Amino acid sequence: MCGIVGYIGHREAADVVVDGLTRLEYRGYDSAGIVTADSQAQLEVVKRAGKLSILKEALKTNPLKGNIGIGHTRWATHGKPNDVNSHPHLSEDSKLAVIHNGIIENYMPLKAKLISNGHDFVSDTDTEVIVHLIEEHYQGDLVEAVQNALKEVTGAYALVVSHIDHEVIVAARATSPMVIGIGENENFVASDVPALLPYTRKVIFLHDGDMALIKKASIELSDFDGNIVEREISTIDWDAEAAEKSGYEHYMLKEIYEQPTVLQNTFGGRFAANGMDVELDLGLDPNSINRVVITAAGTAYYSGAVGEYLIEQVAKIPTEIELASEFRYRKPILDENTLCIVVSQSGETIDTLEALREAKRQGAKTLAILNVKGSSISREVDDSLYIHAGPEIGVASTKAYMAMLAAFELIAIWLGRARAELSDSVASELIQALRSTPGLVEHALEEREHIAQIAEQFKDKRDYLFLGRGINFPTALEGALKLKEISYIHAEAYATGEMKHGPIALIDENMPIVAIATASELYEKTISNIQEVKARDGIIISLANPDDEQIAIHSDHVIRVPKVHELISPMINVASLQLLAYETAHRLELDVDQPRNLAKSVTVE
Ligand code: F6R
Repeated sequence: MCGIVGYIGHREAADVVVDGLTRLEYRGYDSAGIVTADSQAQLEVVKRAGKLSILKEALKTNPLKGNIGIGHTRWATHGKPNDVNSHPHLSEDSKLAVIHNGIIENYMPLKAKLISNGHDFVSDTDTEVIVHLIEEHYQGDLVEAVQNALKEVTGAYALVVSHIDHEVIVAARATSPMVIGIGENENFVASDVPALLPYTRKVIFLHDGDMALIKKASIELSDFDGNIVEREISTIDWDAEAAEKSGYEHYMLKEIYEQPTVLQNTFGGRFAANGMDVELDLGLDPNSINRVVITAAGTAYYSGAVGEYLIEQVAKIPTEIELASEFRYRKPILDENTLCIVVSQSGETIDTLEALREAKRQGAKTLAILNVKGSSISREVDDSLYIHAGPEIGVASTKAYMAMLAAFELIAIWLGRARAELSDSVASELIQALRSTPGLVEHALEEREHIAQIAEQFKDKRDYLFLGRGINFPTALEGALKLKEISYIHAEAYATGEMKHGPIALIDENMPIVAIATASELYEKTISNIQEVKARDGIIISLANPDDEQIAIHSDHVIRVPKVHELISPMINVASLQLLAYETAHRLELDVDQPRNLAKSVTVE
């Protein structure tokens, strides 16, 4: 949450910083701001409430000069998203600027102390205490002042500091992500890799407790006490194009259409030549566990809910799915025979990271399904399985979800085979079906026009219901989440068989109900449940296979999706629901890529 970009080098810093912020706007868009240092006596700042486009307009009339700059795009925590609370925050003499992502937990007592020492505060933010603290400690050595200030601060943060008298950017990290980009006679710092992609692929991921003194031609890393630390230089294999819209109207739409390729990348090289096995480069011994606990947040959690079905059915290991935000507070019981799988696109979600820490504290074995390399989770987990989805910029997750499902399919088969629970014939049937998924998803996406008509017809409804059974109950949950987060239509999902236990009271002629009725063991029961809803005048939008002729009798609209093995169907079915959400939000003229109140990478609890 919140995007930070810093630049020091030979280019106009404002151009690089604003360009980087554009690529990080998914991290927050309540306000944006930038400060640059040129040869003047003070820093030059422009900051505005609202989206980055408003800041860009302001910069047209007030362009900033200088080769050192830091900028921010904010997801508000402390203080309303107005101009004053926007970052950067400057000292009274405008010589020092601070930008911060995270929360300073002890800012209230610090603020009281600083006020009694004579400091005047102008904003309602927790960040401003850092400015005054650094000022208090500053005696000509910026790094020392930042170190001493941070010794007084508790919380989770990443921050960058600029001072007019020093040709440096100082960066520090405690929990919130921060990556340094290494250039030729120029260097960069950012909250996330996409900001750096047009400039460099050589990066250093800062660890918690790291500080960086970033100069034009050098980077010095230390801990908060000034002891030198060494960090690996990684090379990013994403191309810059991957973080562009490439002709699509929205990132979300582009990412939906990237899914066939993403599936190929997730599977790439992981099917064994015998057509029956999966090769995962993991240290875990599949026979050393007797239980699996999956934990994640939001969309990643729903992928885990599919994973629960898969691992139980394919590998026959008792499996539970847990919300990461509840996990450690629920005081779960784990041991060394438990495999805890955490799932996270960003690898930075604080709830998921803390759930992982809880699992490790209790001695469980841990495995992460991740997209972003070098993330906090990747550093703490025993084993990582990367989904290779490429940068996901749309705030509503689509291609990462698809790739997470693919990862669970691989893990389930891998565990099932290693534990001799999966026969050769079933394994090869599943693998063959998985190989067909890129083409089938492409096929499902061809229904876009028809889905758009349905979206148009029901876009003004206030409520939607999504129904699914078995392994497609999580698909219904994900379909409802997608619709509500980008169209702001209230949507709920139920396991189809649960309707009669209460929610059926909601049904009337105004309620669209998306019913997943693709081939499954429970197909007949699903049809009965749909009929119960139809009898109460609900509007049925079914998701069904092409060979299903009877479904039209019970439905007002039918979205056709290719038929595939039931255990693989969530991957095909979700694509249509992503399009339904996209087309609905688009027709409501909403900001599909940056829905209100949300941010990608939720690094606060
Ligand atoms: C919804 C969405 C969120 C994320 C959740 C976890 O479209 O994107 O629900 O799935 O915040 O994020 P990661 O996967 O980064 O841990």
